[in-house]
Amino acid sequence: MSLSPAFLDELRTRTLLSALVAKTVKLQRKGREFAACCPFHNEKTPSFYVNDEKGFYHCFGCGAHGDAIRWMTDQRGLPFIDAVKELAQAAGMELPAPDAREAARAERARSLHDVMAAAAAWFEEQYNGLPGAAARAYVERRGITDATRKAFALGYAPDSKTGLRRALAKFGDAMLVEAGLLIEVEGKEPYDRFRDRLMIPIRDPRGRVIAFGGRIIGQGEPKYLNSPDTPLFDKGRTLYNLDCAAPAARKSGRMIVVEGYLDVIALAQAGIEEAVAPLGTALTEFQIERLWRQVDAPLLCFDGDAAGQKAAFRAAIRALPGLAPGRSLSFLTLPSGQDPDDLVRSGGARAFESLAAAPEPLVDRLWNHELAEPLATPEQRAGLRKRLNELAAAIADPDVRQQYQAEFRERFDTRFLQRPAFQRGPRPPFRPGTGWQPPRPISPEAKGVGSAGIDRRLLKGVVAGLLRYPDLLARHAEALHGLQASDPAIARLLDALVDLALEEQALDTERLGTILRSSEFDALARDLLRADRLRFSFTKKDADPERARTDLAEVIQAMVEQPEIEAALRSATERFMRTMDDNDRLEQQRLRELRDENARRLANLMQDDEGA
Ligand code: UTP
Ligand code: MN
Repeated sequence: MSLSPAFLDELRTRTLLSALVAKTVKLQRKGREFAACCPFHNEKTPSFYVNDEKGFYHCFGCGAHGDAIRWMTDQRGLPFIDAVKELAQAAGMELPAPDAREAARAERARSLHDVMAAAAAWFEEQYNGLPGAAARAYVERRGITDATRKAFALGYAPDSKTGLRRALAKFGDAMLVEAGLLIEVEGKEPYDRFRDRLMIPIRDPRGRVIAFGGRIIGQGEPKYLNSPDTPLFDKGRTLYNLDCAAPAARKSGRMIVVEGYLDVIALAQAGIEEAVAPLGTALTEFQIERLWRQVDAPLLCFDGDAAGQKAAFRAAIRALPGLAPGRSLSFLTLPSGQDPDDLVRSGGARAFESLAAAPEPLVDRLWNHELAEPLATPEQRAGLRKRLNELAAAIADPDVRQQYQAEFRERFDTRFLQRPAFQRGPRPPFRPGTGWQPPRPISPEAKGVGSAGIDRRLLKGVVAGLLRYPDLLARHAEALHGLQASDPAIARLLDALVDLALEEQALDTERLGTILRSSEFDALARDLLRADRLRFSFTKKDADPERARTDLAEVIQAMVEQPEIEAALRSATERFMRTMDDNDRLEQQRLRELRDENARRLANLMQDDEGA
């Protein structure tokens, strides 16, 4: 329907705004205007004004502003056209007749929808009939149950150039071509686009089929063939399964984005219904906007391999301009080479949920990506700072931008500027669990656990590393201080090192060597420095210093956290034994996972080096 500006102006002048607003808000006359407590935000003193002469309302508190139509859409929540209809009726105005071309277009869209629905039904029929035997076997091989197959209406396009064309002949070639179901080449008969493929219907948010993805049965190229863009289907604005995922997301408060159709389907089968996928392309701004209409921070899953990580960073960049207070993205990195489908097939929903329990916030994703670049020289570090500034500058919202600038600056300084450890707050753990952070300085309970808990090799490795890179001592002094070492000699050495670092801020290897040579620790220190049995980058003489430092910092983090987690786990277990409460059990389980994750992290750092 086309509504001319003249019609809308007439509608506005014929509507008395104050009377309209007064239907739902108590107004007080103030001179030529009316005042009220603003209906768009919470307030105790009126800052909301209605001006009949101008036909506008305005709130000085929250900035809400608009005319009668805007009032109906924003305050009453009506779609634009309904708002106009209601106001027109109240004003005794006739709506203009729908424009004829517009009507024809609507009619056409309706029949394209009919075509797509008919095609989907036909594909399902083929699937269930004789031609569908191989497709059914494939679906079964992929572990998709019959119920799931039905729920996603998977079908089969037989290996024929004319099957669909004949079956849907009543719609005519032109319409089938427009729907993307037939391919038309000049001088030839149009023929079926999808042949010998498992057909996955793609639905719009209202649940109507608008396109198809067709997967080859088994191996072959191309793996997926998708509908072209049509009047119904705009690839960059569509998310697969959004119609089902949106209601599920309202319940769970979470929205998951995966890469493929089959990932969405496998997750749904495992009971995780709030997943969507883009259609084989990088996530677009439109798609991110759509996700933000559902939840504040959609969870993006990417493969841990290089390509997946690049895609994650690209999505992060795309999101920057649209960030707003409370509106972000979070990331989940899957084990390299595994997609969510593989993950839930081998480990069920639990495997996915335990990863999803600690997603990486957008700020960490950006930071970690930039930090993976070489940073050994001042120029490289300046480059890092520049890139971080550019990332923050891409954020349109001024508050969020400022927060990012401050956060990046803080992280940069903490990492690269030498300042006494106690003047700064402690560094957060590298991969904090869900909200839980080890209290610092180390708690008495944790000290008790620590004496038995810390691996001796680990401790030796760390002390050896600190001897090589004493500048890290100051930064970690607080964490290292009071850590209970199982080996008394090493414990004394560690204590002495920490004390030294606190006294002398610019402690370098040479200076440390001089001090140690004339101390009781001389032999032990030499021994540790020689100990190349220790399999860490930072215990090797000719390691890449940047890498060694990063590894050492991470090992210290993990080592310090370990007793804290153990202690927390012990008390959680005790509490659960007492209460048998489900929340306590979950807490216990979470801590156990955190502990295992920590152990894995340490093991990785130890092994990593073997290959290098
Ligand atoms: P993947 O290659 O990761 O496939 O493509 P997948 O989802 O794991 O599929 P299976 O498990 O091998 O069956 C991810 C997505 O990229 C698009 C599809 O949307 C697919 O779901 N894609 C992939 C294409 O559009 N064309 C292709 O040839 C390949
Ligand atoms: Mn897959």
